Amino acid sequence: MLFKQQAWLRQKLLVLGSLAVGSLLYLVARVGSLDRLQPICPIEGRFSGARSQAEFPLRALQFKRGLLHEFRKSNNASKEQVRLHDLVQQLPKAIIIGVRKGGTRALLEMLNLHPAVVKASQEIHFFDNDENYAKGIEWYRKKMPFSYPQQITIEKSPAYFITEEVPERIYKMNSSIKLLIIVREPTTRAISDYTQVLEGKERKNKTYYKFEKLAIDPNTCEVNTKYKAVRTSIYTKHLERWLKYFPIEQFHIVDGDRLITEPLPELQLVEKFLNLPPRISQYNLYFNATRGFYCLRFNIIFNKCLAGSKGRIHPEVDPSVITKLRKFFHPFNQKFYQITGRTLNWP
Ligand code: A3P
Repeated sequence: MLFKQQAWLRQKLLVLGSLAVGSLLYLVARVGSLDRLQPICPIEGRFSGARSQAEFPLRALQFKRGLLHEFRKSNNASKEQVRLHDLVQQLPKAIIIGVRKGGTRALLEMLNLHPAVVKASQEIHFFDNDENYAKGIEWYRKKMPFSYPQQITIEKSPAYFITEEVPERIYKMNSSIKLLIIVREPTTRAISDYTQVLEGKERKNKTYYKFEKLAIDPNTCEVNTKYKAVRTSIYTKHLERWLKYFPIEQFHIVDGDRLITEPLPELQLVEKFLNLPPRISQYNLYFNATRGFYCLRFNIIFNKCLAGSKGRIHPEVDPSVITKLRKFFHPFNQKFYQITGRTLNWP
């Protein structure tokens, strides 16, 4: 009898214990997600129509986590839902204009950890694609995700940095927009660029030249400046075109090599540049040894790494070609440091 009672008591305690642990986990998860959902932006007066935090009912915050995420994915909110929840599709207040293979996706995803930032998931290619541009600014705005008015929308299209017409077009939309450029050591970036194209060719069963053959002109044995991967890495040339429209203060340079090894300080600099309160913390970033990269943690439940197409293994490149390229980029890099005020210690 006593034994039976003890067993019953043990079972009860076990059930109560699991309930307590379950509730605790739920609460921690909720607090984690609510923290992300704070409609912060104590970016006083920066964005019009800012509401005080107290005006945001809890329901709206919960809603944002669920429905807003769905809306973002499907771009499919009913008019009633949009009106009810005060949602808007806003033109971007900041754009990651490049550089291709600099870490543009990682930067966008990491900034999206900030509760005041909403990312446009797809590359929109509005300003670099004539056909899209001809559709007009309303078309572009409608491509933006739903957000609360006091959040800022950010998009990234790395082709913007190198496309002739883009600076003028962006200027016409918003002459005070903030522009983010993420760069990597130019030779590494060029090899990363090559690796992406190579993978595409291999997928289609096409043969492709070796990097060395493309990067070095076989007739002159000099660096082949006609090769796009090389041209894109001459950052200062592209930046100079942008500077005809925007003052340097409207640009922020992100060190893409450091974003790989030490993302938090780079993100904190961006938060500052965007006048956002510092909300991304070490908790949001964890190193995944299998991937060899930092991944993102939104809360205790939701975390993610970037897709496998980010962080490819580069082919081995003849060291003499690397030396030649580094020597070639050196004076352009010096000029880039001088213009931007950011020295990156590239070789
Ligand atoms: P590699 O594939 O050469 O390693 P983009 O998004 O502009 O195409 O840039 C891709 C690069 O982002 C990758 O280049 C990778 O090195 C870099 N990157 C930076 N942070 C990363 C992260 N946390 N996860 C995966 N890739 C990251």
